[in-house]
Amino acid sequence: MALDRPRALSGIQPTAGSFHLGNYLGAVRQYVALQETHDAFYMVVDLHAITIPQDPQELRANTRVAVAQLLAAGLDPDRCTLFVQSHVPEHAQLAWVMNCLTGFGEASRMTQFKDKSTKQGADRTTVGLFTYPVLQVADILLYQASQVPVGEDQRQHIELTRDLAERFNSRFGHAFTVPSAHIVKETGKIYDLQDPSIKMSKSASTPKGIISLLDEPKVSAKKIKSAVTDLETVVRFDEESKPGVSNLLTIYATLTGVSIAELERKYEGKGYGALKTDLADVMLDWVAPFRARTQEYLDDPETLDNILAKGAEKARTVAAETLALAYDKVGLLPAKH
Ligand code: TRP
Repeated sequence: MALDRPRALSGIQPTAGSFHLGNYLGAVRQYVALQETHDAFYMVVDLHAITIPQDPQELRANTRVAVAQLLAAGLDPDRCTLFVQSHVPEHAQLAWVMNCLTGFGEASRMTQFKDKSTKQGADRTTVGLFTYPVLQVADILLYQASQVPVGEDQRQHIELTRDLAERFNSRFGHAFTVPSAHIVKETGKIYDLQDPSIKMSKSASTPKGIISLLDEPKVSAKKIKSAVTDLETVVRFDEESKPGVSNLLTIYATLTGVSIAELERKYEGKGYGALKTDLADVMLDWVAPFRARTQEYLDDPETLDNILAKGAEKARTVAAETLALAYDKVGLLPAKH
């Protein structure tokens, strides 16, 4: 791992079991690209997953499923550090320190928290959910990451990370790299196939609006074919007045590498039917091998767990060093070894 490469870090939730197309195009594809140019750390954030009620067996299984999908998508344990968050205890430890630097009001302004807690009601909302963004701050700062590849919805959490890093550094002396969000604009947001005014998301989308990567490929192809568009027929990218068609063009362009302008030309005079049929095929061709590769990893849990053990070991050497520095800066008495 070249030392002169900038460091990137990101985390992905294991909650859903199957990743959906929005996760893949918005984040995971970036992970794969960045392992070639960055010293990249990627983790499955199981500690974040328990901020909402979870079934223990499901969480354990889904954590392996998430790792298998990341490998199937092209993450290579020889090119990046891939691990599970709870395998590196320093995350929870640094999170405590950062909790003690975060204003109550500041945390209360996190829009994702506000959305989730309003939906659930105050009594069913945990303190863990409230401090979720602070754990994310610790995730990032522990690795001195300069780049954080995420979807658009995570921008506010990255801003909080920057604020807290700067606050810590100015109050106690330099300990943390101040990171930037790495958001690829064109694919940062993939919209619901049935309601293109909302993001494709596990919590908000209906089953028909979301493409789960581990679904039967035929099911995914069908969802593309029945995606909501508009009453015109012209295939043109225009997010304002044609959000449904624009979303399909984004998906198509991102999966194939063909530019949107080229696609507009290709479908000139052909209408939405042709676009959907072709995109459904593209989807089939992409999803089927992805699913097969994921299954191969799941069929061999020993190999998968060994990959994770190595990943956690690599991650811990970096994380432990940062934690020791942060503990020292804030004035905690070092334990004698
Ligand atoms: N909150 C992020 C999300 O939903 C997941 C996450 C946790 C993360 N820790 C992180 C992302 C650190 C980037 C860096 O989706």
